[in-house]
Amino acid sequence: MQVPETLQEKLQAMQQSHVLQYFDTLTEAEQAALIAQLEGFDWDILSYAAACEHKQRGVITPIASIAPEERHDTEAQYRTLGLQALKEGKVAAVLLAGGQGSRLGYEGPKGCMDFGETREVSLFGLHFATIKRYAAESGGCIPLFIMTSTLNHDATVSYLEAHDYFGYPKADVHFFTQEMAFGTDFDGKLLMESPCKVVEAPNGNGGWFSSMVHAGLLKLLKAQGIAWLNVFAVDNALQQIADPCFIGGVIESGCECGAKTISKADPEEKVGVLCLEDGKPSIIEYIELEEPYKSERGPDGRLTYRCGVILNYLFSLERLLEIVDTPLPIYRVKKKLTYMDAQGNIVKPDKPNAYKYETLVLDMVRLHRDCLVYEVEREKEFAPIKQAKGVDSLETAKAMLKATGISL
Ligand code: UTP
Repeated sequence: MQVPETLQEKLQAMQQSHVLQYFDTLTEAEQAALIAQLEGFDWDILSYAAACEHKQRGVITPIASIAPEERHDTEAQYRTLGLQALKEGKVAAVLLAGGQGSRLGYEGPKGCMDFGETREVSLFGLHFATIKRYAAESGGCIPLFIMTSTLNHDATVSYLEAHDYFGYPKADVHFFTQEMAFGTDFDGKLLMESPCKVVEAPNGNGGWFSSMVHAGLLKLLKAQGIAWLNVFAVDNALQQIADPCFIGGVIESGCECGAKTISKADPEEKVGVLCLEDGKPSIIEYIELEEPYKSERGPDGRLTYRCGVILNYLFSLERLLEIVDTPLPIYRVKKKLTYMDAQGNIVKPDKPNAYKYETLVLDMVRLHRDCLVYEVEREKEFAPIKQAKGVDSLETAKAMLKATGISL
């Protein structure tokens, strides 16, 4: 089999011809698979990601938020409104579980890891318990959409099947898989997984809605009359999904979307910060938030830019449909990716060795006219598991779960 001339030219122009190093030694089926993979890639990602890194930010100003103590008088009303929306089936939850969890180093989907001490406890188990509780409280059903990647889909489905969806109605659970992108070394050269396959990795959590649309789920959303999607991360052990007060608060505010936030502990905490950029809601990743904004404090001593996002958003379906084709920035993220070196050895790195190309859900907020910034108590709602030990780890999350009275 011959490599199509146009593809050869493309690879040469992109200085990626090394991916054909073993082409002549491959079987015909392997050759066809490699050609199909290469022809399916969006090569513009490379230059677009580089351009995104140099994009100037707009004018940054603080955004107003509602803190828990400011909701004493309105909480009951929000709860009633939220429970009503849940009962009427207007809200679905979307669990983002397509990540690789490379920092944690657990073999398998992060949501399946058993970290119980006297019983089995997993992130999936905790999330199902929460959604089950709110569904029962509202008297309705809350459809749950789970985004996986091709790397963890089968293991996720088998795990949930084996656990009977933790008693949640199976008919209310829907899966879809996200898209993948190639991985490169730090010079932008594509990495090989084997002689006939380029390394691919999940392309970030920003494409969740377009992946839902590609999976044909829009028909279902419309048929069920769903108006709001509550998107959340798998790795927050205290995540409150389909929280009626948050849902009611966003509906009552008339905003197009809402974001749960916590008050940043200190200027260095690694969370994205919600603020206004050129007058519109926007999230600045911690790495991009520079001085003087990062450490600026108001007269009350609190950080001016303190609204740290916890990856729990409520988006209106109407607006999502308007923005679904708007491109999001692409980030080159340093990660550990297993690859085949030039000598044909498989290398499993113990430190980041590659770029993944990712879009992020937090950049969707910028495409909205307004956003309700709904501050929650860290101790009750934010226990991320990013690594085994240290900050935002399994250790800290377990301690926080115990402090809220959840037995492990
Ligand atoms: P992280 O940004 O922590 O990435 O994901 P990760 O891949 O899970 O972990 P590391 O960085 O390799 O250690 C935040 C949330 O977004 C989801 C994750 O599953 C998690 O819920 N996510 C991330 C996806 O669904 N897809 C992706 O491609 C990346």
